[in-house]
Amino acid sequence: MRLGILGSGSGSNMQAILDAIDAGTLDAEIALVLSDNPGAFILERAAKRGIPTAVIDCQGFKTKFPEEVQAATARQLHEAGVDIVCLAGFMRLVKQPLLDAFPDRILNIHPALLPAFPGVDAWKQALAAGATESGCTVHYVDAGMDTGPAVLQAKVPVLADDTPETLHARIQVEEHRLYPEAIRVVAEKLGV
Ligand code: GRF
Repeated sequence: MRLGILGSGSGSNMQAILDAIDAGTLDAEIALVLSDNPGAFILERAAKRGIPTAVIDCQGFKTKFPEEVQAATARQLHEAGVDIVCLAGFMRLVKQPLLDAFPDRILNIHPALLPAFPGVDAWKQALAAGATESGCTVHYVDAGMDTGPAVLQAKVPVLADDTPETLHARIQVEEHRLYPEAIRVVAEKLGV
């Protein structure tokens, strides 16, 4: 199965997917890594591994993902023979026509137990709300923000002395285990 990864930041989840591939626990190949942020470490990590990368040029828009840019992104992913698209810290909302190009084949990882705490800085939201547990969710992407059906979730406790950093770090340990597992589940369902 061929994966396309979209990320805007560090790419630790992409690294976890690569590690699972290397360990032989995920039968996949990362075919293409795309980022809207030319300076993102995810691009460096991918290039170091010889994985093709490209920058998504969002035409100067800070948060918008223009329709024609989504169409071009879909074409790039198709040309790379991608079966499943994984959003990994990608900070723009995926909509049409990219959604239509990969129906039920776009996944996202979110650092909370959705539907709780969608949107940015979910671990900070959990702390502010006084939650006693949080976690992460891998879900199918639909046109909403963090609203598609869940594939898998993992829970972590929220501790009394947690800071945003300690809670996020605990959630990320689970993310790195969960994402490869969720990709396996979806790939099996799709037969890819
Ligand atoms: C993760 O916490 C993920 O849940 C969220 O963005 C973060 C990305 O981290 N969507 P990384 O770039 O994979 O290290």
